[in-house]
Amino acid sequence: MIDQKTITKNISSAIDKINYSKLGKRYSGKVRDWYKQEHFRILIATDRISAFDRVLGLIPFRGAVLNKLSQFWFEKTRDIVPNHMIGVIDPNIMLVTECQALPVEVVVRGYITGVTSTSLWRKYSEGERVIYGIKFPEGLVKNQKLKNPLITPTTRGTGPSGHDEPITAAEIIKKKLVPSSLWKQIEKVAYKLFERGSQICQKAGFILADTKYEFGLDKKGRLTLIDEIHTPDSSRLWVKKTYPARFKTGEEVENYDKEFMRLWFAQQGYMGSGKPPQMPSDLIVKIAQRYIDACENITGEKFVIDLTIPPKQRILESLSKLI
Ligand SMILES: Nc1ncnc2c1ncn2[C@@H]1O[C@H](COP(=O)(O)OP(=O)(O)O)[C@@H](O)[C@H]1O
Ligand SMILES: [Mg+2]
Repeated sequence: MIDQKTITKNISSAIDKINYSKLGKRYSGKVRDWYKQEHFRILIATDRISAFDRVLGLIPFRGAVLNKLSQFWFEKTRDIVPNHMIGVIDPNIMLVTECQALPVEVVVRGYITGVTSTSLWRKYSEGERVIYGIKFPEGLVKNQKLKNPLITPTTRGTGPSGHDEPITAAEIIKKKLVPSSLWKQIEKVAYKLFERGSQICQKAGFILADTKYEFGLDKKGRLTLIDEIHTPDSSRLWVKKTYPARFKTGEEVENYDKEFMRLWFAQQGYMGSGKPPQMPSDLIVKIAQRYIDACENITGEKFVIDLTIPPKQRILESLSKLI
């Protein structure tokens, strides 16, 4: 059992980055480090946490939770679309098929919410009624369920400071970012993935309010789900039980995702520019606990990890076995 005391003790050994030059050049995004091999990619989920497109600190066990949840969901959805997962060789490492990533992020939303510049609620509350090329009726309120889930794509920002911009389906096709028949296939797959995700989350006591998928083409040109899926990083997860009462009174929903830390930073007056405030350790512990709880509820398994060896050392040992 990973309790608060254990999390606190592990704050100092949270994983910032993994350098292993024997595997060649280290690449990194906001959360993951990776090494490219001839036929596959070694994807390492670190404990870095980002919001407002910036890395804002480290949360112990977060990388392992993200990796575990992605593994769970890739297994649960491979009948809908092939994915990049080859195998998990360490709690923080997934071997994946190297794909040519498509230049769009496929966001599916079941609810209208969010405070960031690409989120539906932010735009709607600022008076926009045609958002992502979709017409919205008057009278919607924050966190309301949409009549049906909607796809609101963005361009794909990459690298440590990557930024995503809203785009419409029509623009994606017009600008030839994705061929039209492939985009149709992606839309179909994304709705099916979201439906599967929502069903499994419901059983685990969560509402999958929205999520983001990334797709790529494998060597044979086949559509492949890449990156991560239905994690608290790529999705908004709300507690199902408290949602109805909170929605009725207008109280903020109970978040089990990054919105929780976003709100803390926003309360400190930080919205992405300037020097970010440092997260206090009690906040770090609370965030870690939520990630672990979400992981356990969704997978239906206890989150266990070897605590007798420092995580970085364990990861380096796992990598050394690949050579
Ligand atoms: N199988 C794959 N093939 C090619 N690129 C991938 C694959 N899986 C993930 N990626 C890319 O690797 C990066 C993962 O790092 P991450 O820290 O999640 O990046 P980001 O800061 O963009 O969220 C992302 O840019 C993602 O698009
Ligand atoms: Mg990512």
